[in-house]
Amino acid sequence: MGIDISQDNPPISPEDPKYRALLARLQGNVLKPHGRDHAVHIFIRFHSQAEERVIRQWIADFTNRYITSAWRQYCEAREFKLNGISGRPFGNLFLTKVGYERIGHSPDRLDDPLFQSGMEQAGAGLNDPAPEDLEPGFVGRKIHAMVLLADEDPWRLLELRARVEASLRHLATVVAVEDGIALRDCRNKPVEQFGYRDGISQPLFFEEDVAAEYKRGGTDQWDPSAPLNLVLVPDPLAEAEDAFGSYFVFRKLEENVKGFKAREEELAQALGIDQSNPELAGALVVGRFEDGVPVLLRDTEHPAGEDPECPDPNTDPLLDFNNFSYLQAGSESKCPFQAHIRKTNPRGDSVALGATLEEERARRIARRGITYGERERGDDGRPTLEDQPETGTGLLFMCFQRSIQDQFAFMQRAWANNPGFARPGTGIDPVIGQQVRNHPGVQRWPSVWGDTDPGKQVAFDFGDFVTMKGGEFFFAPSIPFLRRLNGTVPGVEGDLKEFAAEGPHPST
Ligand code: HEM
Repeated sequence: MGIDISQDNPPISPEDPKYRALLARLQGNVLKPHGRDHAVHIFIRFHSQAEERVIRQWIADFTNRYITSAWRQYCEAREFKLNGISGRPFGNLFLTKVGYERIGHSPDRLDDPLFQSGMEQAGAGLNDPAPEDLEPGFVGRKIHAMVLLADEDPWRLLELRARVEASLRHLATVVAVEDGIALRDCRNKPVEQFGYRDGISQPLFFEEDVAAEYKRGGTDQWDPSAPLNLVLVPDPLAEAEDAFGSYFVFRKLEENVKGFKAREEELAQALGIDQSNPELAGALVVGRFEDGVPVLLRDTEHPAGEDPECPDPNTDPLLDFNNFSYLQAGSESKCPFQAHIRKTNPRGDSVALGATLEEERARRIARRGITYGERERGDDGRPTLEDQPETGTGLLFMCFQRSIQDQFAFMQRAWANNPGFARPGTGIDPVIGQQVRNHPGVQRWPSVWGDTDPGKQVAFDFGDFVTMKGGEFFFAPSIPFLRRLNGTVPGVEGDLKEFAAEGPHPST
């Protein structure tokens, strides 16, 4: 009997044999980020004259050679922890609705309305730029599939990419390629282009990750654990038990770093923020200081009197801290309702609007983004402070979910873009909010951190520094579905090859 994920109590132990088949048949990256610093995202359109049989064979071959299952990913991470052997190249393959049709499958049972419509058509509902303002590869519903390849070693990744592109010759056109390269801060932690720590707060599916979070800062105010069905759906086209997939969103989001940084200073001035604490304005915008300290819990980036060259979690327990909620009265005077992390994870704000906390938590997404674009770097390899690009750099935003409509799109449309969420007069999310044209999303900001007096609030319009350049909605099919596209039925043994995690990776 297969696993009924609706009956699952989070979190799970991947070592539990009950989950072996599920993890061996699920693509990696869904339940945990692949974690490599270099990644390439290849968007493919199969030629109209290519035979369907040949395309199916290519996908099955790609799957056998390059796709990393969730089980392999878990085993590699375990190996790394035990003896420092670092991960091998990582691979994913996702299909669009038109991609399924191209290989002769009707994806009607993948009934998420936005997956069915595609991103371009859904754009109006998300206040996305008009198609003529997007990059051409993402326009016209051309994309059949996306391949993600990732590696710690950029040269090995280049070779892998060349091999994959060569295998597509005569079969497909590469309509877009997006290179991701992770930016890191002085602690070697990922940051996005505006300079803020990213990837802190995620739904956690594995016991060991929840236990680590518990040890770090507790989980009584915010429980990061998540059931598998937050992101997994049974793959309706796989003729195998325990075969799950996940809906996947890709969006190329350009970040105007210069504009954002200048506006941060203007906000600091408008709020009369003390010159000795200039980072506070940006923290009100994002909801965390650049080093990850939540602005709800402190009004300075570093503990009073300290200004370390590089912050240290042993002396500052609030770095990357995640055990907090917004349920205390007046919390918006410390972390405004519009702050990016509050808009996108309201940690209880929707309860006052009639939703339950469980309903709100069911909107969560598993974010898997990586930064893109070249930055000028100093001797330490980090982007220099003077280097503030206006175009050409940003975030390749990616996320997995059970429903694009109910999770990513709801978050973008009903929360980030909605000036009335979480309370009337909040304004849009100053980082990712996309407003209806000529309808300003002016926000109100506390001029005195922690003072709930409405008279101390200042109206100030912050936004438009992130621009959507294009993207698409996909499904991450189960591995048995992809393997069986060549007409053979590998059966259980084929999928369970992944159980021998110590064996050589097919791509090496
Ligand atoms: C260029 C665009 C974006 C930037 C610069 C950005 C930046 C950040 C930063 C700095 C954090 C805090 C670190 C963390 O908790 O991981 C964060 C968290 C988050 N972001 Fe974004 N983000 C962007 C796009 C998006 C989009 C498009 C969405 C979804 C519609 C989104 C959803 C979230 C969520 C759900 C969190 C976690 C909030 C929490 O649990 O507290 N972000 N983002």
